[in-house]
Amino acid sequence: MNIRIRTAKKNDIPIILGLLYELGRPKPQTDSEVEVFRNLVKKQISDSRNSILVAENDDVNVVGMLSIIFLPRLNRNDLELYVPEIIVSEKYQKKGIGTKLMEACIDLAKENQCHSIRLESGTFRKEAHQFYKNFGFESNSLSFTLNIR
Ligand SMILES: CC(C)(COP(=O)(O)OP(=O)(O)OC[C@H]1O[C@@H](n2cnc3c(N)ncnc32)[C@H](O)[C@@H]1OP(=O)(O)O)[C@@H](O)C(=O)NCCC(=O)NCCS
Repeated sequence: MNIRIRTAKKNDIPIILGLLYELGRPKPQTDSEVEVFRNLVKKQISDSRNSILVAENDDVNVVGMLSIIFLPRLNRNDLELYVPEIIVSEKYQKKGIGTKLMEACIDLAKENQCHSIRLESGTFRKEAHQFYKNFGFESNSLSFTLNIR
């Protein structure tokens, strides 16, 4: 299977939303919520700095995605690349697609002279943790979340 990694386009929005639901992100309950989610993805696709990478297979179907946010830090004059989401559709997992997405992300971090790539991963996602460790990611902090709503 040939996989092509490219930046997302507006007509990828429905499949990107589908991948986010697969990851367990909240599903919209109403049409207006669908529109809000659609606009959030559209905004990131149109953003000149941040981006979404997608993995496309031979049939030109998008089967995975990785989103990218460049973050400034107060004590660094170079950026941190933050990955809020990475997901490969279940049927296509363990075929090297996540690796291709992450390699493209690392290339982007280097091109943008980032000092690091950071992401968070649920404690239960043991396979994903192994995937990150294979790349040399180190787990050296805890993540704390205070839910406001
Ligand atoms: C984690 C994820 C993005 C990896 O993408 P992928 O295309 O499946 O990964 P690859 O095929 O490139 O896997 C490379 C390595 O990752 C590890 N790995 C990935 N998925 C695995 C699984 N389900 N079970 C065991 N190991 C796994 C293996 O170490 C593998 O190395 P190997 O090929 O030497 O065995 C993908 O499996 C996924 O979307 N999982 C569900 C959602 C998720 O957990 N996302 C991350 C949220 S933080």
